[in-house]
Amino acid sequence: MHQYAPQWLELREGADADARADSLLDPLRARLAHASGGAAELVVHDLGCGTGSMGRWLAPRLEGAQRWVLHDHDPGLLRLAADRAPRAAADGSPVTVTARRGEIGRLTGADLVDAALVTASALLDVLTVEEVDALAAACTDAGCPVLLTLSVAGRVELTPEHPLDAELGDAFNAHQRRGGLLGPEAVDAACDAFSRRGATVRVQPSPWRLGPREAELTEEWLCGWVGAACEQRPDLVDRADAYLVERLRACRAGELRAVVHHCDVLVLPGPPATGTVS
Ligand SMILES: C[S@@+](CC[C@H](N)C(=O)[O-])C[C@H]1O[C@@H](n2cnc3c(N)ncnc32)[C@H](O)[C@@H]1O
Repeated sequence: MHQYAPQWLELREGADADARADSLLDPLRARLAHASGGAAELVVHDLGCGTGSMGRWLAPRLEGAQRWVLHDHDPGLLRLAADRAPRAAADGSPVTVTARRGEIGRLTGADLVDAALVTASALLDVLTVEEVDALAAACTDAGCPVLLTLSVAGRVELTPEHPLDAELGDAFNAHQRRGGLLGPEAVDAACDAFSRRGATVRVQPSPWRLGPREAELTEEWLCGWVGAACEQRPDLVDRADAYLVERLRACRAGELRAVVHHCDVLVLPGPPATGTVS
């Protein structure tokens, strides 16, 4: 099991919040209102919750009492997520949480039977095609909408450009696919898995736009990006070391900008409603 440092998840939380595609929220709210049937509380399952950043972002954007069920295979992160859970919905209604330790690939419809909504953030690209397929099957059985945010798209734009950017980007993407993980193919795989099951899928871009105000995050991200690329292509190490020194100097001087592309996916069960465009 790969372990995610809570410090890294905390560092990216602000950029994640700014990046998520707000435009998917209105169709989601409309579907939740239509499907609620007067239920006393909205049950939201957050898959791969980490320290709970998705809940802190989404719970205050939805109205009505909510019960979040947090899923992760890392018990330390689950504890942090439960401790730091949001307390109030958009209209002040209470938000409560419960935590469940487990593997996403083993989820079934029975695990999600009470779900009004399933969410995940920064999860799809670290799953295999079999895990994404199992997730889509479980969500389809549960018959609820699914909001999957911040999956990497495999594209990075750095300004100013550098001749090594593209080679490092390719090596990083190859590293993301190690051991059969989906990496940049995750969004296509999820769209395919849900579409095959008759759902309506919408995709919106959700890029990180990093400038001088996000220098700490940019530095940490750059070190991870270059490090993963070199793990994949050790022949790059010498040139990548010099590259990193130059990029970090520019970042500290406020002269580096980065757009790290992600995508958000909203899945609504069934075909598009008449008169809407998916
Ligand atoms: C990149 S982190 C994202 C965390 C959080 N959703 C966020 O946006 O900050 C991925 C999370 O998914 C969890 N995870 C990854 N693969 C998993 C799996 N197969 N089963 C359960 N949890 C998994 C990790 O432990 C980690 O907390």
